[in-house]
Amino acid sequence: MIENETFLKDVNEGFSQNPKHISSKYFYDKIGDKLFQQIMDLPEYYLTNCEMEIFREQSDAIISSFEINKNQEFELIELGAGDGKKTQYLLEALLKIDFKFKYIPVDISQNSLNIISDRLLKLFPNLCIEAKQGEYFNVLEELFNSKKPKIILFIGSNLGNLNDQVAHNFLHQLAENLKEGEKLLLGLDLIKSKEIVLLAYNDSQGVTRDFNLNLLARINKEMDADFDLENFEHLPLYTEEEGVAKSFLKSKIRQSVFIKPLNKTFDFEEGELISTEVSRKYNDEILEKILQDSSLKIQDKFMDSKNYFADYILTKK
Ligand SMILES: C[S@@+](CC[C@H](N)C(=O)[O-])C[C@H]1O[C@@H](n2cnc3c(N)ncnc32)[C@H](O)[C@@H]1O
Repeated sequence: MIENETFLKDVNEGFSQNPKHISSKYFYDKIGDKLFQQIMDLPEYYLTNCEMEIFREQSDAIISSFEINKNQEFELIELGAGDGKKTQYLLEALLKIDFKFKYIPVDISQNSLNIISDRLLKLFPNLCIEAKQGEYFNVLEELFNSKKPKIILFIGSNLGNLNDQVAHNFLHQLAENLKEGEKLLLGLDLIKSKEIVLLAYNDSQGVTRDFNLNLLARINKEMDADFDLENFEHLPLYTEEEGVAKSFLKSKIRQSVFIKPLNKTFDFEEGELISTEVSRKYNDEILEKILQDSSLKIQDKFMDSKNYFADYILTKK
């Protein structure tokens, strides 16, 4: 019996289709979490540095735009919190001015939640924190059970990992749950030239390559499969016109892989691609289009000094 039946089902479905694909949410096992932390420290991965600068320098202004009543306790919910190193600046600023709030980091990775909880409580012993493990899509309803006012954080370009239709549906679903005046802080990577974007997904040390290939290592480990990682290569693609960075694993040779719990062999042609991640880059126009007919409107926008990244404040109408 395999521990994660959904993962097995998704692999079976994704490998049975043409083109083959696996969801990027499966990057994040213990090794994937660690590799992603290394990616965030890479000089080429500008996304983290840019958003970190926004939080470091503009947290007070961001908090003002939340328009929170200081006497009212609220919930700060972060979807896909990861290691929370950027949010840390916001939490510090909120605690300094004595706001009353509970911080609720949500992540599919329990390992990430353990790390973030330990780290933040060491930094801020008075922080009220309640981590929630789960997929954002599945836990939304539960998160909105309480009557307390909410501020939602969805940063680190996480929305970019959803295709446009799914992103549209997710933001609409979020909007339905928010009450008038409540805010969503949405961190998005902006459209920019190929030279800058591609390097972020193809660093010189090969950490993004290892991160991508770890998906196959994870399938080997959890599903007793026999992928030979040497026979696959990391392939990132991006054009500024389309504005979507895509990562693939490319089969170097014609080969077959057996997945034991499925009792099934999957064939790969030489040069065949498995799609593993999309990372949509945004501008105001694309965001407006995704928000069309929703009850969310753009209220504010905070950018880094290079104008590479934007944290939008969306407010429920
Ligand atoms: C790209 S990282 C960004 C982390 C963090 N937001 C940041 O800005 O540093 C994505 C995070 O979202 C989590 N994640 C990915 N897909 C998810 C899903 N469907 N539901 C919940 N968490 C998810 C991953 O485990 C990971 O911690």
